[in-house]
Amino acid sequence: MKKTVFSGIQPTGDLTLGNYIGALKQFGQFQEEFNCFYCIVDEHAITVPQDRLKLRKQTLSLAALYLAVGLDPEKSTLFIQSEVPAHAQAAWMMQCNVYIGELERMTQFKDKSDGKAGVSAGLLTYPPLMAADILLYQTDLVPVGDDQKQHLELTRNIAERFNKKHNDIFVLPEIYVASTGARVMSLQAPTKKMSKSDTNVKSAIYMLDAPDVIRKKIKSAVTDSSGIIEVDKEHKPGITNLLTIYSSISGESPEAIAERYQGVGYGQFKADLAEVVVDELEPIQEKYYAYLESEELDKILDEGAEKASRVANKTLKKMENAMGLGRKRR
Ligand code: TYM
Repeated sequence: MKKTVFSGIQPTGDLTLGNYIGALKQFGQFQEEFNCFYCIVDEHAITVPQDRLKLRKQTLSLAALYLAVGLDPEKSTLFIQSEVPAHAQAAWMMQCNVYIGELERMTQFKDKSDGKAGVSAGLLTYPPLMAADILLYQTDLVPVGDDQKQHLELTRNIAERFNKKHNDIFVLPEIYVASTGARVMSLQAPTKKMSKSDTNVKSAIYMLDAPDVIRKKIKSAVTDSSGIIEVDKEHKPGITNLLTIYSSISGESPEAIAERYQGVGYGQFKADLAEVVVDELEPIQEKYYAYLESEELDKILDEGAEKASRVANKTLKKMENAMGLGRKRR
C-alpha cells in the first residue's frame, strides 16, 4: 500500500520564498509514490486575529498557488481544513491528551505570545490541532521547514501517548526536512528566519513579487564587508543564506556554487541569484493568476474536502470509540 504524506500551510499573508523552498517546493516530489494530502490550514490562521474577507481571499490564493507549483488534484488531495470538520473534532480529543506545560514550552507559542495582550487560547492549543491534522490521515511523512520540528515531535508524543492509553490506532509520522533550505533566513537580518509576518518587507521575497522587486530585494540583502563568497553560517550568515537559496533552486551544492564564484564580487553574484529566483518564480506566478481566474478551483476544493473527510472520519470514529465518546456504532 502507498504511504501517506500530509502537510499544511497557513493562508496568512503572502507566502515567502522560505515557505516555497522549505515546504511548497518539496510537496510535488511525493505525488507519484505517496498518497498525498495538502491542506490549507485556515483554522490555524485564526489563532491570531484575521480580517475575514482577507482570510477567505488568501485561502483561495493559497489553493491557486498549490496548483501553480504543480500539485495535481488527480494525484494529491488539496483541501481547506475548516471544510473537514473532523480536524476540529479530533483536535479536542488531542487537547485532552496533551499537558498545558507541554504547550507552554513550544518556542513558536513563546515567540508569538511574548509581550502581547489578549493572547487567544487557540494560540496555545495550536499544536494539538496540528497533531489532529497529521494523525487523522495515518500519515507516514510530513514535509515541513525546520521551524515545525518541535510541533512534529509533540505530535509523535501525543500519538504515542494516545496509542498507549486508549488504543493503538495512530501511525507515528516521520518528519521530512529538505537537506538545503529548511530554514531560509531574512534578507535584512540573516540570523532570523524569513517570515511572512516580518514588518520589514525587504526582509522577505514573496512568491508573488514582481521580477524587479525581487531584483531590488536581493541587491539590498545584508551581507558583510569581506567580499569573499563562501559558506560560513556563523561568520557570514548573509552570504551563506544567499548561497542556500541559490542551491535549493539550482540543485547545485552551496559549496560548489561558492567555488564557482571565487574572485567574483557580491554584486555580480547577487545579480545572478536574482535571475535564478525570477526564472523559478515567474512561471509559477503566471500559472497562479490563471488558476485564480479559473472556475476549476472550487470544484477541486469540493472534491478534496470530500475525499479528505472520508479518510479522516474513519480515524475520528476510531478515536471516539477508543475514548468512549457517544454511543457505540458499527
Ligand atoms: P506556516 O504556514 O508558518 O509555514 C508553512 C511551511 O513553510 C515552512 N517555512 C519555512 N521553511 C524554510 N524557511 C523559512 N524561512 C520558512 N518559513 C516557513 C514551515 O516550516 C512550513 O512547513 N504549523 C504550520 C502549518 C501546519 C502544518 C500542519 C504543517 C498546520 N498543520 C500539519 C504540517 C503538517 C505552520 O504554521 O506553517
